Amino acid sequence: MRFKTLTLAAAAAVVLSAGAAKAEGDAAAGEALFKKRCAVCHAVEAGKNKVGPSLAGVVGAAAGHVESYKYSKAMMDSGLTWDEATLDEYLTDPRGVVKGTKMAFPGLKKEEERADVIAYLSTLGQ
Ligand code: HEC
Repeated sequence: MRFKTLTLAAAAAVVLSAGAAKAEGDAAAGEALFKKRCAVCHAVEAGKNKVGPSLAGVVGAAAGHVESYKYSKAMMDSGLTWDEATLDEYLTDPRGVVKGTKMAFPGLKKEEERADVIAYLSTLGQ
């Protein structure tokens, strides 16, 4: 009986750590994807805005934090803070999550691609 409980606990631990590893994403793959899908509109250098704002230091920042960039009212009023969870939702369906956003991007439908891009964004300093 005791042995069986321990086995179950070990199995649960394996399942949990596998889930965590998957959610972490691969920053190198995320960088390649960023260059293909995001870089036309976003620079990663601080202070350099394109059609979209610079994404330097975006993880942990409030939506609309780049002062030199003119965001939509929808983004300014969203009240979001960019962490893994909010970025994951926004990048799945930008216009569904921030209604009225001017980010003309249909979204990344694959969970793995989002996790990779978010891992890459986390490496960008201020
Ligand atoms: C067609 C141009 C375009 C593409 C492609 C694009 N974006 Fe954007 N993005 C924008 C614009 C414009 C905004 C500002 C939105 C607003 O003010 O409503 C924005 C805003 C954002 C924000 C919020 C930034 C902040 O300072 O609050 C994040 C995060 C973001 N984009 C990530 C991405 C990622 C990651 C990709 C690639 C998967 C991507 N974007 C692709 C144009 C784009």
